[in-house]
Amino acid sequence: MSAVIVIGTQWGDEGKGKIVDYLAQKADYVVRSQGGSNAGHTVVVGNTSYKLRLLPSGILYKGKVCVLGNGVVIDPKIFLEEMDDMARQGVDLSQLRISNRAHIILPYHRLLDRLQEERRGQEKLGTTQNGIGPCYMDKSSRMGIRIADLLDAGVFKQKLKFNVEVQNDICRNVYGHAGVDCDSILTEYLAYADRLRPYIVDTTTLLNRALEEGKKILFEGAQAVMLDLDHGTYPFVTSSNPSAGGACVGAGVGPSRIDTVIGVVKAYATRVGEGPFPSELTGNVGETIRREGHEYGTVTGRARRCGWLDACVLRYAVCVNGLDYLAVTRLDILSKLAKLKLCVAYRHRGKLLDEYPADLNTLGEVEPVYEELDGWLTDISRIRAYDDLPDNAKRYLARISEISRVKLGIVSVGPARDQTIDLIKIWE
Ligand code: GDP
Ligand code: IMO
Ligand code: MG
Repeated sequence: MSAVIVIGTQWGDEGKGKIVDYLAQKADYVVRSQGGSNAGHTVVVGNTSYKLRLLPSGILYKGKVCVLGNGVVIDPKIFLEEMDDMARQGVDLSQLRISNRAHIILPYHRLLDRLQEERRGQEKLGTTQNGIGPCYMDKSSRMGIRIADLLDAGVFKQKLKFNVEVQNDICRNVYGHAGVDCDSILTEYLAYADRLRPYIVDTTTLLNRALEEGKKILFEGAQAVMLDLDHGTYPFVTSSNPSAGGACVGAGVGPSRIDTVIGVVKAYATRVGEGPFPSELTGNVGETIRREGHEYGTVTGRARRCGWLDACVLRYAVCVNGLDYLAVTRLDILSKLAKLKLCVAYRHRGKLLDEYPADLNTLGEVEPVYEELDGWLTDISRIRAYDDLPDNAKRYLARISEISRVKLGIVSVGPARDQTIDLIKIWE
């Protein structure tokens, strides 16, 4: 078993970073294959909390090759700040490799992200305003600028000039904004190119060679299924494919090379940004979960909306991703609740739905059908063996696994590496 994909099954922030950091102990390579600095993965090692946005969580170990694949979008300014920040904290970056096919985020992408959101007004998506959508738009419309282009000053200058002209036309004519200055971007980005150059390789070749050599590769998802451009609650989604298939496309690795797909499931649900959230809790219980779980965004600091675990979402995630195992995180956060609810079905106009609705009006009207379970009302953060969990916690986990028809692989009871109950021991 050499290639394992870890993805988010809800709306992001499930604890993918923590699970990847835990599994990375045994991996040789850790790969990000989609998204950009919209991601915020907090990983706790000892007394230090690392906030990673683009760097794969394997970077916190010495000697793991950490790859940013072709499907990632890179804002060089933010990325270099992240690299500098990590280097200051003593993190070794020598094993970092960046795809020459990855697309770069330019200042006009950030600007357009903001202008688009302003234009949407009440209908805004609540993006992280990192320029993710506009950058993937340029990629799809075949006018994007890739890392390989950035490395060649002549090519970069020519592409940048063309793009700035087009984007400034849009800024002026659609949004009444003056746009950006080409020359200053050119100077700024050529300096970034010099700094990034040592890390840039053909990561597709690198990863496929590694697989041939039997190396262990861990794919670290960013965002989650319900934010997937194709499968999520469109248009309240991100602009990449955080689902398992996206890992293959975004790293240049064939699906037949993947052995295991692990879905990370937060023991409750959160969503940051706008969009439907059927099991959302707007009252006291939601407030308690937010307070207990410190549910505030890593990237934007926004309060995360909180709700009950939604098994309809989970079943959909199982279907879209072909999950082999669940990694349930943040079970400890529920320890103060006497009663827990699990959304097991959606009712719409009196009928139970058997498919996840594509139409947001329907999704907005569904009534969650809840099953109530007893809480365990005891601290579980020091438990390290499944059998030692309180019976009610085991019942809750068993029900999640039963409804989703996926085996429980990992249970996380705290942010630290050792606060992990591992039932599958992949790579041991
Ligand atoms: P990601 O984006 O999916 O990597 O998740 P985030 O890092 O944005 O949010 C998850 C947060 O929960 C981080 O602060 C983690 O350190 C923390 N975390 C992960 N697993 C657990 C857990 O089992 N219990 C608790 N209390 N915190 C956890
Ligand atoms: P991680 O990897 C939670 C959300 C934004 C917004 C929508 C689109 O930490 O789980 P974008 O900037 O991508 O165009 O925003 O997606 N979003 C996330 N929510 N966790 C994330 O990443 C997210 N990345 C994007 O809040 O609703
Ligand atoms: Mg996050």
